[in-house]
Amino acid sequence: MLVWRKKYSIGVSRLDADHLTLVSLLNQLHINMAEELSREAVEPVLAALQCYSEHHFDFEESLMVKFGYPELDFHRACHDSFCRQVTELARDAHANHDVARGLRALLGRWLFDHVVTVDGRFGTWLKANRITVPTFHRSRRAILPPADQRQPCHA
Ligand SMILES: [Fe+2]
Ligand SMILES: [Fe+2]
Repeated sequence: MLVWRKKYSIGVSRLDADHLTLVSLLNQLHINMAEELSREAVEPVLAALQCYSEHHFDFEESLMVKFGYPELDFHRACHDSFCRQVTELARDAHANHDVARGLRALLGRWLFDHVVTVDGRFGTWLKANRITVPTFHRSRRAILPPADQRQPCHA
């Protein structure tokens, strides 16, 4: 199990809350795999991940556009690549391939190579430029609301 650590924070609470969701998804996948629920392990995580990507990446990129972040194009390309990989895994899962390990590896890499490192760079840039992103608004809590309140996502 992966525990969220302060050092993973990029200093923008609204983005950190979404990133925490990613850790929860990775842990959910890990638990289901340990219980050998391989197929069941993957489907809800993939569905949540497609929803996550759609909303989180849009929001993160909108902040970059708003504040004129110079690495926007590179960052957007990273997001696009991740979406493509998730879509590929979803397609393989749909064709009855076991993608649990591949998904876990992708998520693990994404957390450290993107969230902590590349998103972290955005957080550092915001701080260096003394830009503060408003904290939570009650209407927008974590990226994934409880399942019974979730709107369908079109990834
Ligand atoms: Fe992010
Ligand atoms: Fe990002």
